Amino acid sequence: MVKVDKFIHDSIEKIRKDIKGRAIIALSGGVDSSVCAVLAHRAIGDMLTPIYIDTGLMRKDETERIKTIFSDMNLKVVDGKVNFLRALKGQTDPEKKRKAVGEAFIREFEKDARKLGARYLIQGTIYPDRIESEGGIKSHHNVGGLPSVIDFEGIVEPIADLYKDEVREVARALGLPKEISDRMPFPGPGLSVRIIGEVTDEKLDVVREANAIVEEELVEQFAPWQTFAALIEKGTGVKGDVRVHGWIIAVRAVSSRDGMTAESMELPWKVLRKIESRITSEIPNVSRVLYDLTPKPPATIEFE
Ligand code: XMP
Repeated sequence: MVKVDKFIHDSIEKIRKDIKGRAIIALSGGVDSSVCAVLAHRAIGDMLTPIYIDTGLMRKDETERIKTIFSDMNLKVVDGKVNFLRALKGQTDPEKKRKAVGEAFIREFEKDARKLGARYLIQGTIYPDRIESEGGIKSHHNVGGLPSVIDFEGIVEPIADLYKDEVREVARALGLPKEISDRMPFPGPGLSVRIIGEVTDEKLDVVREANAIVEEELVEQFAPWQTFAALIEKGTGVKGDVRVHGWIIAVRAVSSRDGMTAESMELPWKVLRKIESRITSEIPNVSRVLYDLTPKPPATIEFE
């Protein structure tokens, strides 16, 4: 605990020293950006504006949840759905999708920063993000190429040396609700990396609903390191005696320490069948549900 308290104290001091003007932080509602927002708020108070962009790639009911949790901060909520979908139109390559989302984020931030007169950007980059980006595995959108294109005087990354479990410890010590400190990681490019190929409104609606069902059935009961639904493609099925060409949903549930490696969880058959049954009955255009058995490596946790 002493170490965590020292980390909090030192990083608040450092933020105060590094930031000499207005700053913005992209708040995603995940533990990383939430911890950074609280640290930065303690360091510079109302000189910080946390910005939450509703990209349309977020989980079900997320926007309302964020508004409630951060109601005491000077939170700015931006509706970016149209811009993000436009940026993703026609993109099928996973890396190009990541870059498209990353660039849409940057453009939005630059615009907001200019309006607010903010010269500093605070980011919730953590250690594994840097390793994977530097190692060329995936260009995590919140790292890849940012400083060269962005028009900020400084980019501050208060938790860039921490692993996920350390970030959670800091979150608890900062008094953030369990709902945030213990929350599963959610990728910056959101549901776009849980859709194989081009992102469309219809696919987003399907994967968002499926994801909510998977979370409802697994998070509380099994505390996975990460669990979600991904949308693969279409396949033939039969619904109510009629042949349908419906979406295929893959369910993923993994245990992991830091996301660098992961094991597929051995879930009870009954639970998997319940998830299948809920997804195929509650989402009309889904005709097939799969469970992903693959560890990381050779697979990654996300599908793209
Ligand atoms: P992978 O899929 O690479 O994921 O095994 C490892 C961890 O990172 C998350 N992830 C991302 N996070 N931007 C992010 O901020 C990304 O582009 C991205 N891709 C994957 C993933 O959810 C898992 O926790």
